[in-house]
Amino acid sequence: MGPAGPTRYTPDPSKRPPPDEIVSKQDSQFFNVFSVVIGLLVAAALILMAFARAVGANTQVQHVRSDPEYVAGVAERVKPFARVAVAGQDNSALVIDPPTGSADTGAGALAALPDDGQGVYEAVCTACHGAGIGGAPKADDRAAWAPRLAQGTATLYKHAIEGYTGKAGVMPAKGGRTDASDAQIQAAVDYMVSLAK
Ligand code: HEC
Repeated sequence: MGPAGPTRYTPDPSKRPPPDEIVSKQDSQFFNVFSVVIGLLVAAALILMAFARAVGANTQVQHVRSDPEYVAGVAERVKPFARVAVAGQDNSALVIDPPTGSADTGAGALAALPDDGQGVYEAVCTACHGAGIGGAPKADDRAAWAPRLAQGTATLYKHAIEGYTGKAGVMPAKGGRTDASDAQIQAAVDYMVSLAK
């Protein structure tokens, strides 16, 4: 058998096109099909994208914007950082919320004061009178209290309830707890006086 002779499997070499022609024909055919496929895929992607955007514009964004958590988050972030109580207006919205998890379920930030003098003294007055902060006479400092006791209990009550500025410093009205009743402050004064005696 001759090497280049026509067989069952190979066409007659004299009828075959030259090799470079075969390749370029296959290349251009592949390129055409490939371009069409790529074009179709790009078109499909664009159509899907437009479709998704159209659907999302009518549902997604609205749903997110009306989501209670989202709305609450925005309200939280844009709320003014300070609030001002205006005299003569309803300031009930300004009460400071107790920290979450605290036992205080009351309306205000201040824990309810006990009614007994010792309780009020320990909750409020010790802040200054415990260690003698800001010139406050220490509760058990007899020397400091002697001249004050000499004024009479009525004066001590008055100074504790209304506030008092003496030589030693400033005693704020009700020790700063203006929500305390006069009776609570008087009880605290009584307790403090008992410590100084
Ligand atoms: C912010 C600090 C502070 C707190 C809180 C405070 N005091 Fe005073 N208190 C003072 C100072 C300062 C004086 C001394 C004023 C002076 O004589 O110059 C004083 C003085 C007093 C006097 C003597 C007044 C006089 O006529 O000599 C009484 C009574 C008194 N405080 C009661 C209380 C009671 C009751 C409480 C708690 C409900 C309290 N204080 C909380 C700072 C404080």
